[in-house]
Amino acid sequence: MKFKLRNLISAGLICGAAISLPAGAFAADAAAGAAVYAKCKSCHGPKGEGNPAIAKAMGVTIKPLADASDDAIKGAVAKGAGKMKPIAGVAGADLDNLIAYIHSLK
Ligand code: HEC
Repeated sequence: MKFKLRNLISAGLICGAAISLPAGAFAADAAAGAAVYAKCKSCHGPKGEGNPAIAKAMGVTIKPLADASDDAIKGAVAKGAGKMKPIAGVAGADLDNLIAYIHSLK
């Protein structure tokens, strides 16, 4: 129930922000970020530890995501990082929420 209520509140905030506030004018919501993290999970693992099979297939070491800085996360999503390609459709509040969620993985 608590979780659902938080989602409702954050959905309301996102709608409100789209109408009247610039992106980033409200606190990031780690719970909402969990849904955005679905785009990262297949390669970075449920806890950001890195999927060993993907790392092996791509011939790289995937560092624990929870250790990445805000800028490293933003850069990887927007421009890619090494062998990782950019991830489309993650920006504004989604990106802020995603960063909050990733930092909560520690
Ligand atoms: C198709 C697989 C794949 C997906 C999907 C993916 N990544 Fe990555 N990511 C990688 C690989 C592989 C690396 C390491 C690249 C290298 O070292 O060449 C990486 C590296 C990173 C790094 C750099 C880590 C560091 O400490 O320097 C960040 C940050 C990152 N990814 C964030 C994300 C986020 C956030 C998402 C989801 C929006 C995401 N990735 C989705 C494969 C992926």
